[in-house]
Amino acid sequence: MFFSILFVLSLLSFVRTSPLSKPVVKRNNGLTTTAVAASTISSDFVRPAQFSRLAYCSSGAIQTLSCGGPCDDLGAGSVTMLLVGGDGGQVPHFFVAQDATTKSIVVAHQGTNSSNPLSVINDLNFSQTPLNATLFPGVSDNVQVHEGFAETQGRTADAVLAAVQSGLASTGFSKVLVTGHSLGAAIATMDALMLNMNLGSNVQITTTTFGLPRGGNQDFANLVDSQLGGSYTFITHGNDPVPIVPPQAIGYVHSSGEVHITDNAGTAVACPGQENENCIDGTSLLDVNVGDHLGPYFSGIFMSGSACPNV
Ligand SMILES: *[C@@H]1O[C@H](CO)[C@@H](O)[C@H](O)[C@H]1NC(C)=O
Ligand SMILES: *[C@@H]1O[C@H](CO)[C@@H](O)[C@H](O)[C@H]1NC(C)=O
Ligand SMILES: *[C@@H]1O[C@H](CO)[C@@H](O)[C@H](O)[C@H]1NC(C)=O
Repeated sequence: MFFSILFVLSLLSFVRTSPLSKPVVKRNNGLTTTAVAASTISSDFVRPAQFSRLAYCSSGAIQTLSCGGPCDDLGAGSVTMLLVGGDGGQVPHFFVAQDATTKSIVVAHQGTNSSNPLSVINDLNFSQTPLNATLFPGVSDNVQVHEGFAETQGRTADAVLAAVQSGLASTGFSKVLVTGHSLGAAIATMDALMLNMNLGSNVQITTTTFGLPRGGNQDFANLVDSQLGGSYTFITHGNDPVPIVPPQAIGYVHSSGEVHITDNAGTAVACPGQENENCIDGTSLLDVNVGDHLGPYFSGIFMSGSACPNV
């Protein structure tokens, strides 16, 4: 099984896009799903997907919001960058921005840059470690997270927290959106926890991620549920293999909050509970489709550098 996981992840380097080839085979653990309204998709999920895609652009393009479609989709003049960083390798690109359209401070992280082996190694170290007590005060050592994800989150954590605090102060906004795709989704989840533990309770944090791998153990999944609860959504697509690794067999568990896209038209269902087998958890390793990791997410959004003009 370990070999299969390495194999499918290594395929990510080569795959651009490919359509869902066959229906997802689902088991049933009794957790029923409910349809997500198209109006909820457009009001709650499309804009986070656009921000996550923007994190795959070059730092220069992000800074000046000059990247063609991915920038134009956010609306001219709506978004102002507060902090742009990362090298696309050990530190995936990230940004903190103010978004006038939603009156929010936005934090977004790039996922694995598959042309850069360093960022893939981040993904492949499956050992677990407690959360950093400075960034996550008061959390029990029983809460264990993927070591590579924790190290990667730690490289930008102080800068992200400071930029969000100063952005909230300078704008008077009280909302924060945290988003990212793939490795960036795992970093975003830890960022959201960190922000929730370090910002005042008057700040409303919404987390919406895409193609999230499992990030920690059962205690971590429970911590995400108790801290972020109903404001935490992780969006999975079709037969994407990334959300089913690292496997539950070695102690990894997803939190609640899954929304599962079932076709390339963007139809989605809400999946109550942790590891709802009617959603991504029901995907067999034999049925995975690596192309589903990149998209499309809702309105034709693909998450990779190739979706962003090279400027
Ligand atoms: C991916 O990594 C390569 C090699 O480090 C770098 O040249 C490239 O700019 C990176 N691409 C993105 C989108 O970060
Ligand atoms: C994975 O984590 C272990 C435990 O900390 C460490 O010894 C090892 O060097 C890491 N491997 C990689 C490839 O980063
Ligand atoms: C924990 O986070 C703080 C703040 O970013 C950092 O200074 C410290 O080195 C981190 N500790 C470990 C063990 O990574």
